[in-house]
Order: sequence, then C-alpha cells, then structure tokens
Amino acid sequence: MDILECIKGRRSIRRYLDLEIPKEKIGIIIEAGAMAPSSGNLQNWRFIIVKDKETRKQLANACLQQDWMATAPVHIVICGIDEVARQFYGIRGERLYTIQNCAAAMQNMLLTAHDLELGACWVGAFDENMVRKAVSIPENARPQAIITLGIPNEIVPEPKKTDLTHLAFIEKYNNKVEDIESVMGFYGAAMQQRLQKGKEALDKTGAHLGKHGKRILEKIKEKINKR
Ligand SMILES: Cc1cc2nc3c(=O)[nH]c(=O)nc-3n(C[C@H](O)[C@H](O)[C@H](O)COP(=O)(O)O)c2cc1C
Repeated sequence: MDILECIKGRRSIRRYLDLEIPKEKIGIIIEAGAMAPSSGNLQNWRFIIVKDKETRKQLANACLQQDWMATAPVHIVICGIDEVARQFYGIRGERLYTIQNCAAAMQNMLLTAHDLELGACWVGAFDENMVRKAVSIPENARPQAIITLGIPNEIVPEPKKTDLTHLAFIEKYNNKVEDIESVMGFYGAAMQQRLQKGKEALDKTGAHLGKHGKRILEKIKEKINKR
C-alpha cells in the first residue's frame, strides 16, 4: 500500500472478528515498531505481546473498563525505560524523549497493522498500576500505551480533521498561510481533488433542480471554476 494511502486510510478499530491473527503479522508489526526513530538510537522501548484471554480481560479492565478491548485477540503493551534516557539526556530525556520514542514506535505499528489489513487501536487511558500488575512490568519500566489488534469487524468513517490552514504556520508561530497553495504544493493537489469531487456532486444535484435553482448552481460553478 502506498504510504499516504496507508496514513489516510488508517482508523481506530474497536470491533474485531472472533478470529486469530497470523503469527507472522504480529512479528512484522513488532519489527516495524522497533524500526522507529529514537533519541540517540536508544530504542528504550519494550513490547509485551498478550494473547492470553484472561490477561486481555484484565488489561481491558485496567483501561477504565474499555471492555471492547478484550475482543481483540492480541494486545501489545508498549513500555518505556526512562532510566536509560535520563542517563543520556537528563530530565528532558526522561520526561520527553522516552514518550516520543514510544509514540513513534506506536505509530509505526498502527500503520503496519493497517497495511496488513488488520484493525488496531491506540489505548492510552489506563490505571498504570493495574497494567503493571496484569503483565508483570518491573519498576524500571513504565507502560506507555496499549495497541489492540485483530481482524476488523467495523467500517469507521473518516474522523473530522482540522483544516491545515488552522494548523500550519509560515516562518513564525500563529503566522497563518494566506495562500496555502503557494506554500504547500501538495495540499494544492489535495484541494484540487476535493474541488473535483464537489463539481461532480454539483452536477448530480443539478439534474433535480428547477430553472431558478439551476441558475444559482451555474453561478456557484463559475466561482469554483475560477479556482
Ligand atoms: C495518546 C492517545 C490515547 C488514546 N487513548 C484511547 C483510549 O484509551 N481508548 C480509545 O478507544 N481510543 C484511544 N485513542 C484513539 C483516539 O481516540 C483516536 O486516534 C482518535 O479518535 C482519532 O481517530 P482515528 O485513530 O480513527 O484517526 C488514543 C489515541 C492517542 C493518540
């Protein structure tokens, strides 16, 4: 799958079929996690693969009773080892880098799961001590997040995403890009695609309109065609 198609098509999946997932796919996902960038290449993450039904139930319970989690045949608990990052990078390493390292590994795994036609969800809401207990995490490691994995049993629509014009600044914070297409050529291409879809939708709508409606529609089309 093309990388952008994978990024754009991924969704958080919370319903799974009652089926196992092939072992090889678990291996590929873990490997993708371990390939993520990490501060100074510390790789201070650890991945616990949980298949045991009772443990998965305990984890779902530890995640503030997110019972849907137990229906996923595999959970992966991602742990970070703060100590190593503290040794190399002080407080910034401990408080920031370990979290970022684990998050990078998480995202790699989520995208790989999607590429392998599996459903996955990032779960961050949990009682740390309960998670520690369920999978025997020692003092020097900290559970950062859990991934649920399985064969998807739902189709999730695209969640609402904030328009880039509100998120991307040019040169300075809060300096919004007036003419976004001149800065982000790619975004321009994405915009063109949306406009094309809009035009097609308008053409379909036009067939059902009366004389007055059609005149208004023509004006809208004129405006769009100027872009
Ligand atoms: C740090 C973090 C914590 C999250 N925790 C949970 C969670 O506890 N339970 C859950 O169902 N989804 C959780 N999610 C998934 C988000 O709800 C989801 O990514 C968001 O709604 C956007 O949907 P999408 O993943 O389909 O794009 C978490 C995501 C992140 C990044």
